[in-house]
Amino acid sequence: MKGLFEGKVVIVTGAGGAIGRAAAIKFAAEGARVTVSDLSEESVAETVRIIKEAGGDALPIVGDISLDEHVQRMVNVTVERFGGVDCAFNNAGITHAEDYKWDEAVFRRTLEINLISQMLCMKYQIPQMLRRGKGAIVNTSSIQGLVGVVEPPLPAYTASKHAVIGLSKSTALEYARSNIRVNALCPGVTRSAMVDKVMVMSESIRQRLLNHAPLGRLAEPEEVAEAALWLCSDKASFVTGHAMVVDGGFTAQ
Ligand SMILES: NC(=O)c1ccc[n+]([C@@H]2O[C@H](COP(=O)([O-])OP(=O)(O)OC[C@H]3O[C@@H](n4cnc5c(N)ncnc54)[C@H](O)[C@@H]3O)[C@@H](O)[C@H]2O)c1
Repeated sequence: MKGLFEGKVVIVTGAGGAIGRAAAIKFAAEGARVTVSDLSEESVAETVRIIKEAGGDALPIVGDISLDEHVQRMVNVTVERFGGVDCAFNNAGITHAEDYKWDEAVFRRTLEINLISQMLCMKYQIPQMLRRGKGAIVNTSSIQGLVGVVEPPLPAYTASKHAVIGLSKSTALEYARSNIRVNALCPGVTRSAMVDKVMVMSESIRQRLLNHAPLGRLAEPEEVAEAALWLCSDKASFVTGHAMVVDGGFTAQ
């Protein structure tokens, strides 16, 4: 397929979910060979099916992104199959809709999946990009990487997403002279299973989420995915260490 990512190899994590699937499909439609990674075998298979039906090339990888050996395997299998790694959209994540109440296990698990996983991804992706002499990484943060949101309070999630921005900025500076760009993406409330899980907590939370953005609606996953593609593309060649909001105006208030 011809396009913005023709000849490029892109890894997308959380690619069975709303934003990740939308991005994986768009990367493939722009010519990339895409590693489709997620915890859920069924959702990975569905994303791969959509990409292949449209004539694209996709590699399914199923496993827990917070585990070093899985992430290493994900990158190794990508290199064996596609010959290298050009771009990565490290996007898998969870929220803790269950009552957190200072629960250490909930806090640790949220950090493992939302933050440690991104460190592990970059640990194995960056050496491959160094081999290429170039690379672009986008780590998914959130508007809750920039502000705290009180209804519902999600302290572990908010802490993890703030840390993703710090991790991305620090790594961006470390690898700038190696021609590897690293940016964070901060979506506002986006139509997804994750948001459905929070919306059922109460009617007031549902209303608040639906009306959170000055644009007066939720984001569609495709609108967030567009920003990930742009940040990964050569069109963003002078953009690194940036935390880009795609939030319908929420953080402008
Ligand atoms: N939906 C929103 O409103 C919103 C807002 C801001 C940021 N985000 C972030 O966007 C990213 C994508 O979320 P989404 O909105 O598409 O939600 P989603 O729930 O549809 O997708 C998240 C995906 O991550 C996968 N995942 C979870 N734990 C995993 C693990 N241990 N190993 C591998 N995969 C795992 C899930 O299986 C799921 O497919 C997340 O990092 C999320 O925090 C979402």
